[in-house]
Amino acid sequence: MVLFRVFAAEDAKDSSSAPRSNTTTSGGHFKAFPLKAVALFLVFVALATVLSFATIYRSRYFDIKAAIAQPMASAARLCRGGGEDDDPDGLARWIRPPRAAMHNMSDAELFWRASMVPMISKYPFKRKPKVAFMFLTRGPLPLAPIWEKFFEGHEGLYSVYVHTLPDYKDGFPPASVFYRRQIPSQVAEWGKMSMCDAERRLLANALLDLSNERFVLLSESCVPLYNFVIVYQYLMKSRYSFVGAFDDPGPHGRGRYSPRMAPDVGISQWRKGAQWFEVDRNLAARVVSDMKFYPKFRDFCKPACYVDEHYFPTMLTIETPHLIANRSITWVDWSRGGAHPATFGKGDITEAFLKRIHGDKKCLYNDQPSTVCFLFARKFAPSALEPLLNFANTLLAF
Ligand SMILES: *[C@@H]1O[C@H](CO)[C@@H](O)[C@H](O)[C@H]1NC(C)=O
Ligand SMILES: *[C@@H]1O[C@H](CO)[C@@H](O)[C@H](O)[C@H]1NC(C)=O
Repeated sequence: MVLFRVFAAEDAKDSSSAPRSNTTTSGGHFKAFPLKAVALFLVFVALATVLSFATIYRSRYFDIKAAIAQPMASAARLCRGGGEDDDPDGLARWIRPPRAAMHNMSDAELFWRASMVPMISKYPFKRKPKVAFMFLTRGPLPLAPIWEKFFEGHEGLYSVYVHTLPDYKDGFPPASVFYRRQIPSQVAEWGKMSMCDAERRLLANALLDLSNERFVLLSESCVPLYNFVIVYQYLMKSRYSFVGAFDDPGPHGRGRYSPRMAPDVGISQWRKGAQWFEVDRNLAARVVSDMKFYPKFRDFCKPACYVDEHYFPTMLTIETPHLIANRSITWVDWSRGGAHPATFGKGDITEAFLKRIHGDKKCLYNDQPSTVCFLFARKFAPSALEPLLNFANTLLAF
């Protein structure tokens, strides 16, 4: 078609230039021009005109067809889920969540990528904020069925990340919320910096999904205490992040402080708090991009200074004290004493027990008194699963 058009245009050009050259060269000899030649010339002009009109019509017709065909093709491609190939440099590239939780970025690459924060706080697209549930585990998740039940029917409002021992292979079926949610993992030891590294790795992976707005750290022995809707609303509407942070003047608090952390960390800024935090996107980005406090805690907080109880509470108390609630939303029972909190099994799970956890404490929520203080609880043994599932529909209102 293009060839045809060029050919026709060439014809038209020739036909219009031909008489001019004829008249100029013939000059005053016009009368001597044979009539036969004029007639032939006119026929030629007529033919050329018809041909070029035909070309214009044809190209218009095909343009319309192409205009209809193109968006239909891209719509079809979008339906097939391959939208990203249409406009590889467009906005979609930046707002699409990663295809898989597993990747081969190094920690340095991952943290750098996750530390990127937009300077414009309003999103120029419809964003449905999600809660990222980050499971810090050794491997198996014996209480997975209770979480499956918890998440059921709330797709699109949550995402799941699992940190395990590096060579652990989970066997969750495709229908599970835990299917392929394992992130690249390293050995994490209690009380050591490798534990904070694992927590930052979970945060960084979850930050790669722009829809994640709140980030909860959980263990394999944690269970939810309310249904998904209550948990979601509670977190989304909170003005503060739930990071436990208190000033403990005793040997297990200030006693663990090293003056070598000064002047970045002063003794009056030193905080202690449970490892099981909940943070919003702003604080999550601060935690993964921290370069100032990390080396201090890595070098000067080693056992018996348990870094996972001090690093984030202290850092956030110094950097953003007005943004943390200073309390954890994960219930735990230290009343039995010792170095480890109580673990609850089959025999412990009674109606009275669950009611006690629900109404265990008074606290502030958005600066107002509240009786809902804990959304999650630990530690539960695998044997607690069956009685907990029995209570899920009634007491926990799943
Ligand atoms: C990382 O994975 C991608 C694709 O999965 C591959 O092309 C790339 O070579 C890998 N890089 C390394 C360093 O393994
Ligand atoms: C948490 O504690 C800090 C001081 O460490 C304080 O400035 C902040 O207001 C407290 N947060 C709330 C919600 O009370």
